[in-house]
Amino acid sequence: MPQQVRGVIARAVGDPVEVETIVVPDPGPGEAVIDIQACGVCHTDLHYREGGINDEFPFLLGHEAAGIVESVGSDVTDIAPGDFVILNWRAVCGQCRSCLKGRPWYCFDTHNATQKMTLLDGTELSPALGIGAFADKTLVAAGQATKVDPAARPEAAGLLGCGVMAGLGAAMNTAEVGRGDSVAVIGCGGVGDAAIEGSRLAGAHPIIAVDVDAKKLEWAKEFGATHTVDASTEEPVERIRAITGGNGADVVIEAIGLPQTYEQAFFARDLAGTVVLVGVPRPDMKIELPFIDVFGRGGSLKSSWYGDCLPSRDFPMLIDLYLQGRLNLDGFVSETIGLDEVEEAFHKMEAGDVLRSVVVL
Ligand SMILES: NC(=O)c1ccc[n+]([C@@H]2O[C@H](COP(=O)([O-])OP(=O)(O)OC[C@H]3O[C@@H](n4cnc5c(N)ncnc54)[C@H](O)[C@@H]3O)[C@@H](O)[C@H]2O)c1
Ligand SMILES: [Zn+2]
Ligand SMILES: [Zn+2]
Repeated sequence: MPQQVRGVIARAVGDPVEVETIVVPDPGPGEAVIDIQACGVCHTDLHYREGGINDEFPFLLGHEAAGIVESVGSDVTDIAPGDFVILNWRAVCGQCRSCLKGRPWYCFDTHNATQKMTLLDGTELSPALGIGAFADKTLVAAGQATKVDPAARPEAAGLLGCGVMAGLGAAMNTAEVGRGDSVAVIGCGGVGDAAIEGSRLAGAHPIIAVDVDAKKLEWAKEFGATHTVDASTEEPVERIRAITGGNGADVVIEAIGLPQTYEQAFFARDLAGTVVLVGVPRPDMKIELPFIDVFGRGGSLKSSWYGDCLPSRDFPMLIDLYLQGRLNLDGFVSETIGLDEVEEAFHKMEAGDVLRSVVVL
């Protein structure tokens, strides 16, 4: 029987989001219904509300979530009712040219549930990133749910579903930060702080946090930044070079998505070093770099989608590290809120007052 539950809906560009009744179908083949326990509020949810992703309103927002599998479709074998899972927005297909080359974290054909959730009048919903987890329950493709140790707090675990994984993975997977590598992270929101946390776990030193907000730099230290640079008063490239013996950092991670800070990352990197772009640029932005330096400085310029993560490989391992007290996921949970407080959480996020507000259900 399809179920009626509450969900947070964005109906039109700029309209405040509202809690409405949604209809969740029973899972068909390859699908699962998840009873959501917690879901973080991410910039991407706000981008959907602002029409910045596409115009397929109404959206069911929310995508950084953990919960319990309620029911699964006929052919689902990896998860079962009662499992504690983290949701992901890149369920790999196993058959595209990237999966077949043994690189499923780049899967070029990720998928979501086939059936649609709807409003009471039958209007089809577009779930944010194919998830839609500001809801009591949601319907996903079974591959979007990864079983992890149920001892983890849902509000911390769910954050691995998006921004925190993007930052951790930018350091650990994309940059392959190693012991003793020097790392600079430009932009210390939730994603940048996760890149700092990932660099600390990987054994980096020094770890240099760069931001224009003094409060963000204080928080960055709690995740493992050994040095901070206030870019509102200091020149970041010079400071990063000074802290690294005049050379620049082995790895520089840009976690904002601005041409200006990407260029800083490019020049703050040591010869043969690595730049990782995890911040998402707007479509109209352009960068300008001296071509001879792109060649002459060597190394690599990479971008990182979702931390190049493979949920089945990374989520259980990261939750185990969290439960051992080695990965600080709790530090990203600035506050827990109710389903009716998402709009307020957007304002706090825009003001930079929180790393993550997390809806608890
Ligand atoms: N690649 C991915 O898969 C992925 C996933 C999630 C989010 N993201 C992107 O990561 C970026 C960061 O996300 P977030 O949630 O941490 O955002 P955020 O807004 O919380 O953090 C950005 C930080 O950058 C700082 N900042 C702004 N301008 C600056 C400047 N000129 N110099 C130094 N610091 C500056 C801000 O003070 C803030 O602390 C966004 O672009 C987001 O879309 C990427
Ligand atoms: Zn694939
Ligand atoms: Zn997100």
